Amino acid sequence: MKILNFGSLNIDTTFFVASHALKGETVAASDRNVSFGGKGLNQSVSLARAGATVFHAGKIGEDGVALRDCLSEAGADVSLVTLSEKSTGCAMIQVDPNGENCIVVYGGANRDVTKDDADAVLEKFGAGDVLLLQNEISNVGYIAAQAKKKGMTVVLNPSPLDALDVDMGDVDMVILNETESEAIFGSADAERVRKTVKSSGGKMKVVLTLGSRGACYIDSDGVIKVDAVKVKAVDTTGAGDTFTGYYLAEYFGGATVRTALETAAKAAGISVTRKGAATSIPTRDEVK
Ligand code: RIB
Repeated sequence: MKILNFGSLNIDTTFFVASHALKGETVAASDRNVSFGGKGLNQSVSLARAGATVFHAGKIGEDGVALRDCLSEAGADVSLVTLSEKSTGCAMIQVDPNGENCIVVYGGANRDVTKDDADAVLEKFGAGDVLLLQNEISNVGYIAAQAKKKGMTVVLNPSPLDALDVDMGDVDMVILNETESEAIFGSADAERVRKTVKSSGGKMKVVLTLGSRGACYIDSDGVIKVDAVKVKAVDTTGAGDTFTGYYLAEYFGGATVRTALETAAKAAGISVTRKGAATSIPTRDEVK
């Protein structure tokens, strides 16, 4: 079984502010940090640091070669990261003293993933392999549908939610936060989500992250909940990505759902005590 993460790579510029800028307001930043990010890259780094073998597919501009190096240094296979004529994707992030962020993303090369690019990548994978997707590249719905046709297990992190164009019938597992759960299942209540999953065929697995309240796994048979690790948050950017990578590495590595959730919660807990997205993701030894 191979894990393919077809996802975004961004250059993140983070501004540490006393409070997030409001409409029409200018605020001063006490610190600024330029680092590696993108939900796709972060999740591949997390998978690799958790010990999984992950193939990352995606697009960067000539200005983004350092992102490919970052992935490679973390242990991901980067042979499917290709160059676009567009500039590399980027994000502008504000982080307040509680570590809470707000993010603006410019897709750039991430939005230059064509159906032909997708076909060329998927050719190298087959039945039984896993495909992980977020919603920061173009043609996400097409990629999910083609992978499903090939018999791959499709995992979707539907983030960011705007203009999500995926047939949920193509998705085997969804990893999402409460806002995304409200939009997709009409509720962020685990029992209500379970009933929705059951009434729509019962096959989908759901991992619902609850921020400082932990996370739960939901399928048509029941709900498993774990608590978050209590920490002083410095920067929550990438915490969900850290959780996703660790959860999937554990789950597809054969761990029980509870162990996978607990390990992912610990990894995410460590990540929020540090600045940055990819740079904040702990190694497996740290999590142990
Ligand atoms: O999930 C965090 C990520 O969202 C950041 O690294 C930023 O690039 C945006 O994609």
